[in-house]
Amino acid sequence: MLDGREKSPLAAHKDMYLDKQGQVNKQLSLNGALAAGIPGMSAALVYLSKNYGELSLAKSLAPAIRHAEQGFAISERHRKLLRFRQSVLKQQTEIAELFLVDGELPKKGTLLQQKALAETLRQIAVKGKAGFYQGDIADKLVQSVQELGGIWQLEDLKKYQVKLRQPVVGQYKELQITSAALPSAGGTLLVETLNILETLDLESADEITHQHLIIESLRHAFHDRALYLGDDDFVAVPSERLLNKQYAYGLASSIRADKSLKSDALSGYSKAQQGGRNTTHFSIIDDQGNRVAATLSINFPFGAGIVAKGTVVVLNNEMDDFQASEKAVNGYGLVGGKANLIAPEKRMLSSMNPSFVEQQGRIGVLGTLGGSRIPSMVLLAILDFAKGNDPSSQVRVKRFHHQYKPDIVHYEKGGLNETEMLALKKLGHQLKQYYNYGNMQAVQLGKSTGILSAASDPCGEGFASVQKISQ
Ligand code: DON
Repeated sequence: MLDGREKSPLAAHKDMYLDKQGQVNKQLSLNGALAAGIPGMSAALVYLSKNYGELSLAKSLAPAIRHAEQGFAISERHRKLLRFRQSVLKQQTEIAELFLVDGELPKKGTLLQQKALAETLRQIAVKGKAGFYQGDIADKLVQSVQELGGIWQLEDLKKYQVKLRQPVVGQYKELQITSAALPSAGGTLLVETLNILETLDLESADEITHQHLIIESLRHAFHDRALYLGDDDFVAVPSERLLNKQYAYGLASSIRADKSLKSDALSGYSKAQQGGRNTTHFSIIDDQGNRVAATLSINFPFGAGIVAKGTVVVLNNEMDDFQASEKAVNGYGLVGGKANLIAPEKRMLSSMNPSFVEQQGRIGVLGTLGGSRIPSMVLLAILDFAKGNDPSSQVRVKRFHHQYKPDIVHYEKGGLNETEMLALKKLGHQLKQYYNYGNMQAVQLGKSTGILSAASDPCGEGFASVQKISQ
């Protein structure tokens, strides 16, 4: 797995978002220059193209450069995300002038041109990693961040390195799963949940029990996320245990079919500790069977709500994916522990979950955006794959989610019907409808038939196709 996750700056420290009373100031980890982690995406794209690419980076970046230079018509979804972040964007002149019109939302179809971004991308295309992490762009990034009260230094950019990691692998019945390693919690959550479910005889359960068992398994896996997970370059994580089938068997034995467990009843998370969206996913299989599941994120829409002057690089707010204090919850309501506290150069935990799923005769590649809800979406899609269904079904599964805290089952509109809701409430679950958060991209190759199929989530703005690309 190629890890291009953001890192915390050298000058970052554990208490950087706390005020004098020791309370977390959420504004600081979500909006503005202190919220931005040192970006890894440019380094990852350069590494990917150099080591695995058939096309040069200049060639694969060309369409993005063209869109930035010539502009593209903004969609209704783009406007919706702008509205969500409008008040934050209005606080920096550069970003407000770029995305808003006199502080207001531009009309649907307005052309968005970003000439300086085209130049930034050209620098990367021509100079590779040095085009972004050193020289003119790096100077502008650091200068802007410092002017806005941030703590980036040139050294931070110069030191950024991608990491190659062993992906998390697992087996669910006859399916082979390959998924994201730490610092993303995604793969561990997915495989741990599947291991629990494997012991629970999902197939013979009725529809409600089926959903209930998935919710209960997610509760356990997210509880372990909160307790143990963090960047394992910095903290010891008991990954072997968390991914072990016997361990899952033990967790499963506390799951009752007739009653929900209360999250507060789970041990190891003391009372003292208790207390949006802009990600992209690509799923690709090429004609030689090479596959890529790639999830990219700047966290909230428009990241930290600031751009570095003269670069049109929108700075991320991934620092919010750290645990800002032992009592804090992040922008997705996730709780965490010591393992995910901030330290210089540490990578923040993620929920991103790019995954491969294989079964005799079939290979699937899938992933989605959606913050903390990513692992449950990927899980539900994999269970759908296990039934023999194809990508167009996998991206349309009815979605519900549990993440240990808050002790609530989230569901998309239509994700649970009236009967299911009544029955789940009777089992003790608290339910809450969410906006339709999915945006899954799934592709599949039939090994014996050679048939490729692809589908994009109807909730999102993605595009799926099987096509011959001429070089
Ligand atoms: O890495 C993470 O878990 C988050 N930064 C992902 C954010 C995300 O998926 C936003 N999209 N809806």
